[in-house]
Amino acid sequence: MNNLKHLAIIMDGNGRWAKQRNLKRTEGHKEGVNVVRDITKWCAKNNISYLSLYAFSTENWSRPKIEVDFLMKLLEKYLTKEASTYMENNIKFKVIGDMLGFSNKLRDLILSLEEKTANNTALTQILALNYGSKDELARAVSKINIQNNITKNEILKLIESNLDTAEIPDVDLLIRTGGEKRLSNFLLLQSAYAELYFSDTLFPDFKSNELEQIICDFKKRDRRFGNI
Ligand code: IPE
Ligand code: IPE
Ligand code: MG
Repeated sequence: MNNLKHLAIIMDGNGRWAKQRNLKRTEGHKEGVNVVRDITKWCAKNNISYLSLYAFSTENWSRPKIEVDFLMKLLEKYLTKEASTYMENNIKFKVIGDMLGFSNKLRDLILSLEEKTANNTALTQILALNYGSKDELARAVSKINIQNNITKNEILKLIESNLDTAEIPDVDLLIRTGGEKRLSNFLLLQSAYAELYFSDTLFPDFKSNELEQIICDFKKRDRRFGNI
């Protein structure tokens, strides 16, 4: 039986969910927030240590301004309103991604929720905001001064300890909802040996019973890590 320490989810399909209902795409994002809350609580109760959620990619800035603005406002509301959910469920909050891309107000809200929840222990929820693996790698390398006489292993350790996910174990299981079969620049290095699962369910319809099924399947998979 495989142990599931770090679960990552690419939350995709909000726009299509809304379109199917003749609603604006933004309604899909609103509904997605409810799923984030439910899934996060479920993970805290079910012995998962880290839950990484892809919420906004470095590429998502290319969407129409009206949608980007809506997502930023939704995030602001979420960070303000959900603090109690984190405290009541003993959940620690952490953001990965380049915070310099956000307004001062948003940055302050993020930092204050990170500080407030720093001693919570049931689960660490990692929200990926303005996150892209390539950008993360570029930021990590720019922080280090690599000398030419060190080994490949030492270089890798230096890079890993300067990624946004330093101290966080690699991803065990990565789920993408919404039917697309791609990683879209999410945790590429950290998922080097992750088990992958692609669900056709649009994110607003993704419920904990489906998650439970996927985890059940994951536990039975044969993870060989290059061995036989
Ligand atoms: C994922 O849903 C949420 C974000 C990327 C912010 P989408 O907005 O990508 O929904 P689809 O893929 O267009 O249905
Ligand atoms: C991936 O979804 C990013 C997030 C879930 C935040 P996208 O909808 O942006 O991905 P692509 O463009 O279909 O690859
Ligand atoms: Mg999408």
